[in-house]
Amino acid sequence: MLKFCDVNFKYKDEEKHIIENLDFQVSKGEFVSIIGPSGCGKSTIFRLITGLEKAESGKIFINDENIHNLKGYIGYMPQRDLLIPWRTISENACLPLEVQGKNSKEAKIEAEKFLTSFGLGQYKDKYPKDLSGGMRQRVSFIRTLLTGSDIMLLDEPFSALDAITKISMQEWILEQWSNLRKTILFITHDVEEALFLSSKIFVISEKPITKLKEVIVPASYPRNRHMLSRPEILNIKEELVNELKQRIQL
Ligand SMILES: Nc1ncnc2c1ncn2[C@@H]1O[C@H](COP(=O)(O)OP(=O)(O)OP(=O)(O)O)[C@@H](O)[C@H]1O
Ligand SMILES: [Mg+2]
Repeated sequence: MLKFCDVNFKYKDEEKHIIENLDFQVSKGEFVSIIGPSGCGKSTIFRLITGLEKAESGKIFINDENIHNLKGYIGYMPQRDLLIPWRTISENACLPLEVQGKNSKEAKIEAEKFLTSFGLGQYKDKYPKDLSGGMRQRVSFIRTLLTGSDIMLLDEPFSALDAITKISMQEWILEQWSNLRKTILFITHDVEEALFLSSKIFVISEKPITKLKEVIVPASYPRNRHMLSRPEILNIKEELVNELKQRIQL
């Protein structure tokens, strides 16, 4: 579904590369988390996939098509919740539809259908400031979903939430993923979150990024949080935490 082939990238005016000769792929329908220390280039990978940044060399494919030839192929939920404060919840949610050229009335009707089915119908005329952090993240997710793309990039969507809201959002997102059958790439700092959600974890273990270490999570879906206390999961958690700790010391 998504493939990086020998991708190189550095930011303009920076001396060093962030990404060097990177190859990896993600299959259709997978839930893949990316973990790695702050500043290692996780969001940069997403910015390359969305086309916000261009690779210096190498190719990125979605469904065997070079992303240069594609448009509107990705649903991207950036690291900060970027709801527009002066638009209502339904006006925020319908943005991607407007961008696709739908008239604003139709777009609003469709967005409101989604908001209702995600339990947010009664908030459609409220403004982002009137919603809790968890609700805002749901709206942001719905907006990403309304791009209509099969692949969704979620950049630390729950990192600013309190522990309990975060747990309920993790369960919520797994439910959406199993209903919607999308491919999800999910950046997180939280090892437990990555283990609970993903079928596979990519660990960034070096800078520049030259490869992603792949860790398969040995658990089937549907999942509940008990899986996190299974010995084989605890072992992987320990390994991942140690690996990330070492990187931070570097
Ligand atoms: N527009 C930019 N121009 C120059 N350097 C940048 C730019 N954006 C990011 N960087 C640098 O590139 C590196 C990787 O940034 P990136 O945002 O991808 O990291 P990250 O892994 O997502 O970090 P975090 O976990 O803190 O979100 C950092 O050192 C950052 O300072
Ligand atoms: Mg980031």
